[in-house]
Amino acid sequence: MCGIVGYVGNALSTKPLDVALGGLRRLQYRGYDSAGIALVGPTGLTVVKRAGKIDRLEAALFENPAPPAYAGLGHTRWATHGRPTDANAHPHVGGKGRVAIVHNGILENHLVLREELAASGVAFGSQTDTEVAAHLLAAAYEETGDLTAAMLRVVARLEGAFTLLAVADDAPSTVVGARRSSPLVVGLGAGENFLGSDVAAFIEHTHDALELGEDQVVTITPETVSVLGFDGRPAIARPFTVDWDANAAVKGGFSTFMNKEIHDQPDAVAKTLLGRVDAAGRLHLDELRIDERLLRRVDKIVVVACGTAAYAGLVAKYAIEHWCRIPVEVELAHEFRYRDPVVGEKTLVVAITQSGETMDTIQAVRHARDQGAKVVAVVNTMGSTIPRESDAALYTHAGPEVAVASTKAFIAQIAATYLLGLYLAQLRGTLFADEVRAVLTELRAIPAKIERVLESEERIRELAISMADVGSILYLGRHVGYPVALEGALKLKELAYIHAEGFAAGELKHGPIALIEPGRVVFVVVPSPRGRDQLHAKVLSNIAEIKARGARAVVIAEEGDDDVASLAAEVIFVPPTPTLLAPLVAVVPLQIFACELATAKGLDVDQPRNLAKSVTVE
Ligand code: F6R
Repeated sequence: MCGIVGYVGNALSTKPLDVALGGLRRLQYRGYDSAGIALVGPTGLTVVKRAGKIDRLEAALFENPAPPAYAGLGHTRWATHGRPTDANAHPHVGGKGRVAIVHNGILENHLVLREELAASGVAFGSQTDTEVAAHLLAAAYEETGDLTAAMLRVVARLEGAFTLLAVADDAPSTVVGARRSSPLVVGLGAGENFLGSDVAAFIEHTHDALELGEDQVVTITPETVSVLGFDGRPAIARPFTVDWDANAAVKGGFSTFMNKEIHDQPDAVAKTLLGRVDAAGRLHLDELRIDERLLRRVDKIVVVACGTAAYAGLVAKYAIEHWCRIPVEVELAHEFRYRDPVVGEKTLVVAITQSGETMDTIQAVRHARDQGAKVVAVVNTMGSTIPRESDAALYTHAGPEVAVASTKAFIAQIAATYLLGLYLAQLRGTLFADEVRAVLTELRAIPAKIERVLESEERIRELAISMADVGSILYLGRHVGYPVALEGALKLKELAYIHAEGFAAGELKHGPIALIEPGRVVFVVVPSPRGRDQLHAKVLSNIAEIKARGARAVVIAEEGDDDVASLAAEVIFVPPTPTLLAPLVAVVPLQIFACELATAKGLDVDQPRNLAKSVTVE
């Protein structure tokens, strides 16, 4: 976690500070417990850092303005080692303030290095793991007089995951970065260059970027970018163009990013479907650069993901198994990695991730590839690690998701994995061409249906306000409604800090029914009464059981489903949608409910406590 930004330009100005602060604002989703900047100009190095959100750092800079500079670093922290205090905030300095460093990741051997440095007389000013890197860099810089050479020496001593950026007081035209198992991208400008944890750091200034590989050191000056491997040899970084608009990462009139991103969902689905079907209605996934013969031979699909992305995988399991007749397992990436999963050359692993940087998912991808499996990444963030380390990437085009809790990425992940399922069905002949076309037509109708759900926002807000004091809420769903229930409960926990649990509705009678008591609120995702009417009848029985015990069933049901009205305390209607596609509309009221309830409680829905958007530690 933690967000980092770096800048160097050829003019002495406030731009390094402006870029650092602007970048930190956009990267705050990665961590927000402290923030700091380092600037280098003719007067040397200036470091300012504060515990708390960026406003505190800005207030400090307002009181004591920083001098103009050529280069700058910025850091927004998600604490791992050491509490969020001013002293533990980054940048950390070494060598009596000659070098400054910012870090994302965890240095696993920091204790050994700390002891070694302390024995040689170094005094530490913080409890962080990062400070050891600052002192090592200072010593190496003293010896080499070259920041790149010094960084190469430092990375050779470090174990763990890290992105490091560094500046030195007498090198105002240079910023050096290094990455191992943590993200770092380069932004290319004219007479200036940028570094960032992701492209959001510099999207305001350039759309031209370079994706760094694993174990690389990058040196930027105003006119040059040079990349070396950790072995000191020249290395290649892949150029790409960012297709996000800078405006996509601003609130655009909404009170919060969460609110905006919930409203972005029709667009997120539409863009994810765009350009993937030819005039004859055949699906083309050009990015899927895996030999079709291999895809025909696949005998098992394993989805690896965490949190909300894993729930998107659970939804996809129902559809892909139905369309392709291939068994699909969905496994939390951290569980997959540390047991002994049965995967081999005929296994297709699908790694679902918004950020492309979740360390648990990265490790699962590496493990799967080591076992000979092919990996497809379903990913939202270009230039991130997981698509680079996978055999193929299928991008969701949800645009930047800034609110820490995921909404539009979830919907786009479902849409993208459905495209993957339909593509495999088309390839393997388990669906006829007209069946694939029919599902694609239904998928294209989803954005308009989500718009209709958004029209119920005011009613859901009133419902949420009326429940602001509730201590616990249960969520039930059956079939594809089950992962929707899990996601609804996760959103409520994350945003409103209310205990919530999702269950498969059929499981109610096997235990959770003991929790049903008068006044208990239970959200129920009801399947369509059309088509698989057995599912519908069974969920209706569950609602009757809830009602009989005095609990309040709040029901998400299809318009025209008159049977639910008599049983439920509240019904939120959603447009009729085929069963397998229903999660794309049914989850929306649950997202709005969690967001509105948290807002009613006065909570920060964009940056809930203790969370970080990109979980880059295991
Ligand atoms: C929940 C949420 C998390 C993420 C999870 C995986 O709202 O956002 O559960 O879904 O941390 O993150 P990515 O998708 O970036 O791999």
